[in-house]
Amino acid sequence: MKVETDPNSAKAESATLAIHGGAPVRTEPLPLEFPGIHHMDEEEVEAAVRVLRSRSPFRYYGIDLQGEVDAFESEFAAFLGISYCLALNSGTGALHTALSALGVGPGQEVIVPAYMWVSVVAAVVNLGAIPVLADINDTFCMDPAALEAKITPRTTGIICVHMSGAPAEVEAVAAVARKHKLFLLEDCAQCAGGSIRGRKVGTFGDMAIFSFQMNKNMTSGEGGCIVTSDEMLFNRAVACHDTGYARDASGRAMFDRPELCLWGRGYRIDEMRAAILRVQLRKLPRVTGHMHASKYRLREALKRFPQITLRKIVDEAGDTGCFLLTTFPTARVAQEVNRALRAEGIVTSAQGVNDIVMTEWGLHIYFNIPSLVHKTGIDRANSPWSLAENRESRTEYGKGTCPYADSLFERSCLLAIPSCLTRRDEDDIIAAFDKVLSVIGS
Ligand SMILES: Cc1ncc(COP(=O)(O)O)c(C=O)c1O
Repeated sequence: MKVETDPNSAKAESATLAIHGGAPVRTEPLPLEFPGIHHMDEEEVEAAVRVLRSRSPFRYYGIDLQGEVDAFESEFAAFLGISYCLALNSGTGALHTALSALGVGPGQEVIVPAYMWVSVVAAVVNLGAIPVLADINDTFCMDPAALEAKITPRTTGIICVHMSGAPAEVEAVAAVARKHKLFLLEDCAQCAGGSIRGRKVGTFGDMAIFSFQMNKNMTSGEGGCIVTSDEMLFNRAVACHDTGYARDASGRAMFDRPELCLWGRGYRIDEMRAAILRVQLRKLPRVTGHMHASKYRLREALKRFPQITLRKIVDEAGDTGCFLLTTFPTARVAQEVNRALRAEGIVTSAQGVNDIVMTEWGLHIYFNIPSLVHKTGIDRANSPWSLAENRESRTEYGKGTCPYADSLFERSCLLAIPSCLTRRDEDDIIAAFDKVLSVIGS
């Protein structure tokens, strides 16, 4: 047992694990995750108040319109280096809208990874199409080889999700998409600011979505956006997210473009949130920089433990750092280490989910999504599963559908990396791993 001798450090603990009655490494909860929130201050307050003072919170007209949504869209597009950005009121709405813009509907299959968020499959199902699961690899994102094996004559597109803050192998996924003439939609909800060799996530496919919900790298509480380089896809998304009709430069609905007279969903964002997002975008490098520094200090420290395999990272410089994933040889070891770490105080307050075995990670895990596993329909006819157009599709969603993901989920733990961790917090996390791994799984 390696015991820290610095009397000022929380690491100076007895060798007895807290789970066996010893003193824990720390007693104060770790900070809650919520990356953008920790850096929110008077600047965001001023931005929201500016809009309220103008009494013009709607994006398309007002008595003293500030143009915050337009400005945010231009600034976010410039940040990514892409032509078009459309802000919306959620990432879920962004997925639904993007798939509508891409023309997804009955008779089509869209391939999604085993590790994602329920909104990804919901967007496909809500349009009458069939989600098809592809396994993940050690990046915890879509495995390009598994993806290719899932393509059928009915496949029209791929949703590649950059999970837990780090980019997927999206270049290889894009190559598969090109080879088979499929659309590629990137879901960057958990990876705003991420990149691969300097190229930002969100610029590798036909379209991409982001979420600005509270637990994201930048946030306005709720919010999202769609980005694309394709003018027609952009205009179709504008129409679908609003009333069904695209708007001209002055914000007026256009009825003389039949190809843009569609059906709307009411996913508009408001000026207040956009004003807040403009501030959060400026702070994004600071937020991800903080998380990245904490995460890579921890990763470096954990390399000395043979029991731990660290997540494969496509490009460390482009990892936004918001989660640390550790994999153990067996499910039993992962559970024991996790229980022991939590007993050592490596937890947030009760509302946080920052240190768990990944099978506990709720609706991120395909077999934890009851409506998917049970093929619950979106209407009385049980669409899309019952639709004649989807008759030939194979629909398998129970545990066992993606065996490598199943094995990774039960052997891996997820630790959120808040954007305000202090050196002392990091020391405590390292000390707790040190203490626990000297006893368990060695
Ligand atoms: C990968 C992923 N996609 C989509 C979403 C949906 O975003 P929102 O919560 O803004 O609807 C989330 C949100 O958690 C997500 O993690």
